Amino acid sequence: MRFHEFVDELELLIRSRYALIVIDTWELDRADDALRQVAAKLSLRYHGWRRSKGLQFGGESNAPFVEDSAAPADVLRLVEREAGVFHLPLFGEYLNDPLVVSHLRDVVDRFEVRRGAVVISGGDVRLPEALRPHAIVVRLPAPVLDDYRVLMERVIRDHTARMPVKVKLTAEDRARLLHNLLGLTLVEAEKILTRLIMVDGALSASDIPRVATAKRQAVEQDGLLEYWSATERMSDVAGLDGLKAWLTKRHVSIADPERAAGFGLPFPKGILLMGVPGCGKSLCAKAVAHEWDLPLLRLDPALLYDKFVGDSEKNFKRALRTAERMAPIVLWIDELEKAFSGNAGEQDGGVSQRVFGGFLSWLQERRGDVFVVATSNDVSALPPEFVRKGRFDEVFFVDLPGPAARAEIFRIHLRKRRQLTAAVDVDAIAAASDGFSGAEIEQAVVSALFTAFHAGGPLGTAHLLAELQATRPLSRTMQERLSTLRSWASERTVDAQGGR
Ligand SMILES: Nc1ncnc2c1ncn2[C@@H]1O[C@H](COP(=O)(O)OP(=O)(O)OP(=O)(O)O)[C@@H](O)[C@H]1O
Ligand SMILES: [Mg+2]
Repeated sequence: MRFHEFVDELELLIRSRYALIVIDTWELDRADDALRQVAAKLSLRYHGWRRSKGLQFGGESNAPFVEDSAAPADVLRLVEREAGVFHLPLFGEYLNDPLVVSHLRDVVDRFEVRRGAVVISGGDVRLPEALRPHAIVVRLPAPVLDDYRVLMERVIRDHTARMPVKVKLTAEDRARLLHNLLGLTLVEAEKILTRLIMVDGALSASDIPRVATAKRQAVEQDGLLEYWSATERMSDVAGLDGLKAWLTKRHVSIADPERAAGFGLPFPKGILLMGVPGCGKSLCAKAVAHEWDLPLLRLDPALLYDKFVGDSEKNFKRALRTAERMAPIVLWIDELEKAFSGNAGEQDGGVSQRVFGGFLSWLQERRGDVFVVATSNDVSALPPEFVRKGRFDEVFFVDLPGPAARAEIFRIHLRKRRQLTAAVDVDAIAAASDGFSGAEIEQAVVSALFTAFHAGGPLGTAHLLAELQATRPLSRTMQERLSTLRSWASERTVDAQGGR
């Protein structure tokens, strides 16, 4: 939806007598802009309010603030008396006060006979039960390329009025720069552009990577999401042919979303990778993003609960929202069970339960092209709802590598270290490493390399065999857990190694 369509929608809502509207956004200025336009279209007066200053009747920026109108009860009393469109940014924070809530309900009732509406904007407005039937929540659409173009032109113009600004951008540079701004709020984008111009009085191609960096900082600011520059490719992953084939099939809808949509294909939602530790789940998450040329954002569930407990829910919602506005992206949620293990529920007053519920509904309702790759190696700690159909496109089980995959893992890691020589009998070491995970194989290669280096000779089969014999792989010590895991998985998941 474009901005002007959003304005039309608001207009329709107010005309249809929706008296309490919540605009879900952090872009309060744009919400303000939309509401002024709507008020003008409906020949209604626009009234703005600020928590620090109070209410301004009429839309003029130099209108006086009404005395004692900053507090919620005071401003509601004024709203009660007038017609028009009242914009109350960030008023949501007062909605945990039952008095404010019932007062607001009364006010809203009045609008049924009077023209106008109360509009609350903010990114995390939680409507109390009592208001829900009276309210409608709309979401301000994210800016599109054209909005950034207009913004950029304005920023350049504003600066040119004060100082000479050299714009050294080809048409392609310009397009690339604008593309890099996508996902930022217009306020953030304006700050970044301003900074780039201020530094050297110019806007040039060398600023493009700086936009990317600044954008990255904007994303990482709240500490829950991390930009991950993945270097791994799918060719670094051995085995898992079933999973690879599945991903390859979906690649078209990422690479050419328009054609895919025309064919009736949706953007894929995501996958859950469960299985044996050290067998390439995290590796795949990284490789997918690189292979698909999408930015990889990693959400660390452990960090959710590092902050104040009561904030976890809010933090999580914000992280998901950030992920959405950076779309198209791959969102990697590693070790999912850490965030949602059911047994934490009692200790934290239900916070993790609510975070979990919020995440489940997000998985279903999310907007934007976000491909989720979630990983977990502890099924017992994961609420069963995750595995149900529809949450993820597919749930894969990643088992220990078979002989062919093990040989491939050896080759990958030997090649990486330039040690894939005729002196190494890959088939022999693959046969000797039954029960080893990919991580353990990699570890064996590294250790054998140290031994060979220490002995002053080239790496040979014997070093590797000795290393394998000296290691007791995890699968042997946790045999029982492994077979439980396998029988659990055989009923509920798709084998990642299978040739489907
Ligand atoms: N199939 C594989 N192909 C190539 N390398 C692999 C494979 N599986 C594991 N490895 C190696 O082992 C390392 C660790 O694997 P990874 O972190 O992906 O395991 P994981 O399945 O996420 O384990 P955990 O459940 O403990 O998080 C990888 O970085 C890679 O070097
Ligand atoms: Mg992992």
